[in-house]
Amino acid sequence: MTIPKAPSTDLRFSSADFDRILASTFVEHLDYCSELTSTNTRAMQLAGELPDHVSPVLVLTDNQTAGRGRGTNYWWSDNGSLTFSLLVRPLEIQLPASRWPQLSLTAGIAVCDALEPLIGGLKLRIKWPNDVFVNGRKVCGILVEAASGQRRSVIIGIGVNVNNSAVQAPPELQEAFVALRDVATGPIRRVDVLVAILQQLDSRLKYLVSGFDALSNEWSERCLLTGRTVEIEYNARRISGLCRGIDHDGAILLDTPTGRERCLSGVVIKFD
Ligand code: BTN
Repeated sequence: MTIPKAPSTDLRFSSADFDRILASTFVEHLDYCSELTSTNTRAMQLAGELPDHVSPVLVLTDNQTAGRGRGTNYWWSDNGSLTFSLLVRPLEIQLPASRWPQLSLTAGIAVCDALEPLIGGLKLRIKWPNDVFVNGRKVCGILVEAASGQRRSVIIGIGVNVNNSAVQAPPELQEAFVALRDVATGPIRRVDVLVAILQQLDSRLKYLVSGFDALSNEWSERCLLTGRTVEIEYNARRISGLCRGIDHDGAILLDTPTGRERCLSGVVIKFD
């Protein structure tokens, strides 16, 4: 397969890109740095510095050097990757703490809705609880973290393989890696992907606050693991069973030899 080179024009965000992001999305404040270790770590720092009413805050970089993932995961990025974090103050958007566990799936749906129009009919799937897959490979990872301290904040970190290439990726990631440019119907610019995701996030977060049912139908419908045998590490236990989907609260359902297990959090160790 011939993979096109990442467009050399898409290696740096421009001031026109920043104007567009601020004019066409719900972002109130944009914090850009050409290089950062982790946009989530930078957002964590800003959570303690910026006043609460400045929300949402977008942390954006061209080059993330030490991206973090869930648990022991790391996030590899390269030229052409899109990596950003959104700092949200739940009180400002009336998001109760009871809904925080669903933020990762909600962001996953926003990503699916934003990316699907770019890939000509291919279906994006959510690998519970925080990955987005296409053609059986990972195109996006999501890391939701709560900032500690008195000023309650959540950080939604999103990494999308846009114009970066599997050829440069660490060997252990190559098999499960896909970039949008490998499946897209035409050239893609990171700013277009970013704006589309932010617009979807705006509407999906409003659903999470008020219209929860529509969201839970969507994550259940997009669940990659339904019908597969899945092994999950949950509360220091290993649970293996047939996945029956994701329920209304965002918990994955597994039918095991000893009955149904419902896991609200956990790490997928393997699936068939
Ligand atoms: C995972 O695969 O477990 C989640 C990966 C999340 C990666 C994104 S990239 C932007 C943000 N900053 C980080 O350090 N991580 C998230």
